[in-house]
Amino acid sequence: MEKNIPRHTGIIMDGNGRWAASRKAIRAVGHRKGTENVRTAISFARASGIKALSLFAFSTENWKRPTDEVTAIMELAVEFLAKETPELKASGVRLRFAGIREGLPARTLNSMAASEEATKNESALDVLICLNYGGRSELALAAKALAEQAAQGELDPSSIGEEAIARHLFAPDMGDLDLLIRTGAEKRLSNFMLWQAAYAEIYFTDELWPDFGEESFQAALDFYDSRQRRFGGLA
Ligand code: FPP
Repeated sequence: MEKNIPRHTGIIMDGNGRWAASRKAIRAVGHRKGTENVRTAISFARASGIKALSLFAFSTENWKRPTDEVTAIMELAVEFLAKETPELKASGVRLRFAGIREGLPARTLNSMAASEEATKNESALDVLICLNYGGRSELALAAKALAEQAAQGELDPSSIGEEAIARHLFAPDMGDLDLLIRTGAEKRLSNFMLWQAAYAEIYFTDELWPDFGEESFQAALDFYDSRQRRFGGLA
């Protein structure tokens, strides 16, 4: 029987620090390995027929980490985008970013803009990298945009419903999450796609992100295929 493939998959890529610590390396080494694995995950998603992939790379709360770790992640993003964008484009990947741009280093912002521009016409797989992203701030920004439209007289407040909010998220066309994967053993959402995860099937694995290879991703897809989705209704 044909397998059910999640149209939109999100990944909370946790465990880079522990991966490094278990090798007595500094945390940035784990983030480098984790970044290499992003390439593997995107290729696998593309080959599996997933149409949209959202990756949690840096949260609005991650600024609390030591400066050298934050700088390492931002630089890894620049390196990743410079190295991988041509091949991603060639394989039909459209790359975009979700999150608050304010506060990100100029170098990172420039690479993000260049990758978005270079891949804007691709359509085989939509990849959304969530950088300086928080689910609550995404919802607060949507509420603010709607309030501003109402204050300008452009919007009737009584018309505001779920669809209006969904239209004002960072990347509305990504739609709801079908499958949410979290690596690294923790069982929480950590402020990732709170709106979009409402009916997601959630797959937690103890595996650390740098170890989450193709077989592990396939196991998550098998889990998804085994679920019966009811969206609050009956079977
Ligand atoms: C969580 O591991 C991981 C992060 C906070 C950063 C994830 C970033 C990447 C994979 C690289 C970014 C890639 C691109 C393409 C921009 P952790 O540090 O919380 O691990 P720990 O829980 O073991 O300490």
